[in-house]
Amino acid sequence: MIPREVIDEIIARNDIEQTIGSYVSLKRAGSNMNGLCPFHSEKSPSFTVFPATRSFYCFGCGAGGDVISFIMRQENLDYVGALELLASRAGIEIPSDRNALPDKGVPRARVYEMNLAAARFFRECLLDEQYGKEGLRYLHEERGLSMATIRHFGLGFAPDHWWALTNHMRRLGFTEEELIEGFLCKRSEKSGKIFDLFRNRVIFPVIDTSGNIIAFGGRVMDDSKPKYLNSSDTPAFKKSRHLFALNFAKKQCAERMILCEGYMDVIALHAAGFENAVATLGTAITSEQARVFAKYTKQVVICYDSDAAGQTAASKAMRLLGEVGVDVRVLKLSGAKDPDEYIKKFGQDSFRRVLDSSMTGFEFRLEKILSEYNLQIAEEKIRASNAVCGMIAEAHSHVERDIYVKKAADRLELSADALRTDVERIRRRRASDARKKDAKDAQLSIKHIGDRVNVDSAKNIRATQAEEALLGLMLMFEEFRREAADGRAPIRAEDFSTEFGRRVFSEICRLERGEYGFSKGMLAEHFSPDELGRIEKMEVDRRLLNRNDRDVFLAAIDTIKEEHSRTEESDDFAEELRKRQEAYQARIKNKNT
Ligand code: GTP
Ligand code: MN
Repeated sequence: MIPREVIDEIIARNDIEQTIGSYVSLKRAGSNMNGLCPFHSEKSPSFTVFPATRSFYCFGCGAGGDVISFIMRQENLDYVGALELLASRAGIEIPSDRNALPDKGVPRARVYEMNLAAARFFRECLLDEQYGKEGLRYLHEERGLSMATIRHFGLGFAPDHWWALTNHMRRLGFTEEELIEGFLCKRSEKSGKIFDLFRNRVIFPVIDTSGNIIAFGGRVMDDSKPKYLNSSDTPAFKKSRHLFALNFAKKQCAERMILCEGYMDVIALHAAGFENAVATLGTAITSEQARVFAKYTKQVVICYDSDAAGQTAASKAMRLLGEVGVDVRVLKLSGAKDPDEYIKKFGQDSFRRVLDSSMTGFEFRLEKILSEYNLQIAEEKIRASNAVCGMIAEAHSHVERDIYVKKAADRLELSADALRTDVERIRRRRASDARKKDAKDAQLSIKHIGDRVNVDSAKNIRATQAEEALLGLMLMFEEFRREAADGRAPIRAEDFSTEFGRRVFSEICRLERGEYGFSKGMLAEHFSPDELGRIEKMEVDRRLLNRNDRDVFLAAIDTIKEEHSRTEESDDFAEELRKRQEAYQARIKNKNT
């Protein structure tokens, strides 16, 4: 068996957009990509790639899955064959035994060792009377960090020298190649000699959740450029995957995390007692990082700089985090440009208050729409109101819409009744559009896959729907998976009416209970490409509703059981009927003889 971490690595390193994009020409459509399906012939694109969940699904023919099942279909390979192809494209070796995970070049463990030695060196320099004075003055006096905070984050200082670190590391036995691969040194084109990359900068080590030092950020102490130098990707570090201070935040973050823009914001927040703050590493948040948040927390409060760039970045972060199902809030600070400055000016109690009153996604979007119109002008106000109603119409629950309508009515100075009528009209129109589309999709799906995948579905329509809803939720959310796998949720494989549903359920539970936990990539080992497509559809259908919904989970369980006992009853009845008929036949026979 190929180890789970290798499969994860293969999936992570074969970007789904790029991989599929090399076979299919894809166009961006919102956060997804569309194209003509390579698996059936079509004129309008119903093939969709979802970068956020690293999956694809064709609404036309029902093909779907992850990057592995795409390659299985496209290259006509089995599971292991597809893995091998993707591994070789990404330069990953599939280990024959499970202890080694060899990377090209410098092994990851060696980079960790090197970074640890470098971090110690930087820290000693910061505390050194002669070299570190300027760095310590900057952090302590200019930025107001206590010695405890400086030690807590392991901050350091890279001296104003071309070979300080280089010489030190050489003495410890690290080779030039290792130092270059680890993004600590660079080779000069002129002299051919290697030199320190971090010079005359205060140093922020980046530490992963297992405590390895994986990268460094270095800040100048004046206004020179570039303000920050951050490690590039190395065998031990991927910018798009890691978060600064997650090593501390992971202990405090079950309910809520704070996402800010910079190192200094995070440090100031931790020092003020908000140890659930993290930051991306000098880049906008990626969907990979969004998934990390979803793994650790229920709610993310985005706390970006109050300037226009910060607010645009907040919109993007809101979208990515919303897609992975976390409750997203946005904090707009007034009177300060970022959280660091805010806490210095107004104190931690004030920050805690604004944190609790952070805007929901709805409020953030409402304010954004309103800011785009001049509400003093009647025509603009009408347009603003239309845009707002269109947004409110997306909410699924009545209660939610009611709350939004009232808030919007307040802000627009219109009557709630008028807005409510508009919202419901938009919903009716959208529902009828969706029904037409569903009918078309259903026709297509019957034509293309019919019941080859789930042969029992035709006689168990209601059960199939409930089974798919339940499995979709289990595919999307770990909590449901766990509850089903460890028996906390009152559902067993025997409760399923369709053989296919039962198999999917059992396999998810088996993987979840296994040593490595569940990963969608591992399903491809046990299901055919058509079956994987159907499994993907279960998830896509749930995702379109975009809700982590316990009510749906419980209702699906009830329906599955109800339907199962109903079919069992009818089986019993059929059995009874058969017996009576036999008895009758026997009586007739007896009579005749
Ligand atoms: P201060 O200005 O010291 O308060 O830093 P900050 O942490 O608040 O940084 P800022 O809001 O200016 O930028 C946010 C993040 O973007 C930083 O923490 C860095 O990770 C990154 N960043 C900022 N400037 C640069 C730069 O010049 N180069 C690179 N690579 N990253 C930068
Ligand atoms: Mn700042």
